[in-house]
Amino acid sequence: MTFDRSQIPAMPRIAAQAIQLSNTPNVDMKQLVDLLSADIGIAAAILELANSALFGSQGSTANLALALARIGMDNLQNILIKSAINEVFPLKNLPTEYGWRELWEHLLLSGQIAYRLAKHLHCPKPRDVQMAALLHDVGIFLMGFGAPETLVEITNECKRFNKTFSEVESRFGNDFHGSFGQDLAMAWHLPISVVSAIRYHECNWRNELPSISSNHLQTLFVVSTANILALNHGPRPIGFPAVQELRKDLFEGFYIDEGVMKNAVRESLEFLEQVR
Ligand SMILES: [Fe+2]
Ligand SMILES: [Fe+2]
Repeated sequence: MTFDRSQIPAMPRIAAQAIQLSNTPNVDMKQLVDLLSADIGIAAAILELANSALFGSQGSTANLALALARIGMDNLQNILIKSAINEVFPLKNLPTEYGWRELWEHLLLSGQIAYRLAKHLHCPKPRDVQMAALLHDVGIFLMGFGAPETLVEITNECKRFNKTFSEVESRFGNDFHGSFGQDLAMAWHLPISVVSAIRYHECNWRNELPSISSNHLQTLFVVSTANILALNHGPRPIGFPAVQELRKDLFEGFYIDEGVMKNAVRESLEFLEQVR
C-alpha cells in the first residue's frame, strides 16, 4: 500500500488541549470553558448534547459551563474526538464509495458499549477504554485520506465478492487498518493502552494476542468485545461480517457475563437514540 505516514495530520489544538485539561484531577472549569468556547463547532455540539432528550429535562440552555456540567467529562471526550476526526478527515476529502456514516455509527456504538463494560469490570480508566473503542477503526479514515484508491479497491472487492475487509486488505501488504490507526494514535500521543487496543482490535480474526501488560490486555479485551457486539447489534461498516464471537481461547482469563453484555448493548442503543 502506498501511504506516507509522515502525512498523518496532527490532532487539532483545541481538542488536544481540552482532552488533556479534562483529564487533570481537579479540572479548571473556567479554563476549559474559555478554551472550548473558541471552537464554534465543539461548543455547538456540547450545547446540542446538553439540550438533547437525555440531558435537557431541566430546560434548554445556551450556557457552555452549565452544558458541560450536565454532560460530564466522559461525554465531552466523545465530542472532542469526533470533532478532531471530522476536522482532519473532512468527508469531502474521503472517497464516497466507502460508507462513512455506517462507520461512524459503528464507532459511536462501540464506544458506548466499551464504556459500560469498562465500568462493569472496574477498569482503572473507563474514559481511555471509551476513547480506544471510539477510535478503533480510525485507520480506515486514514486510508481514505492517504490511500483513497486502495480503499476504493478494497471497498469494491468487499461489495462484489462479499468478502471481509480484513481478508481483502491483507493482500495490499502487511499493514492494515489496525496498524494505521496505531500510527495515528501514536502521532496524537494517546495513552499506550489506547494505542495497543487500536492496533490489535482485530486479534480475534488474526489469531494474535500481543504480549502487553495485563491492564492493556483488559482494555484490548473490552474494545474487541465492544467491536463484535457493535457489529452484531448495530450498523455494519462495509466488509465487516455479522454475527461474530469473541475467541475465548485467545482471551483466557477474561470474562464478561452474557447478561452484562446484553444490558450494555441495550443501554448504549438507548443512549444513542436519545442523544440523536
Ligand atoms: Fe476494525
Ligand atoms: Fe470495528
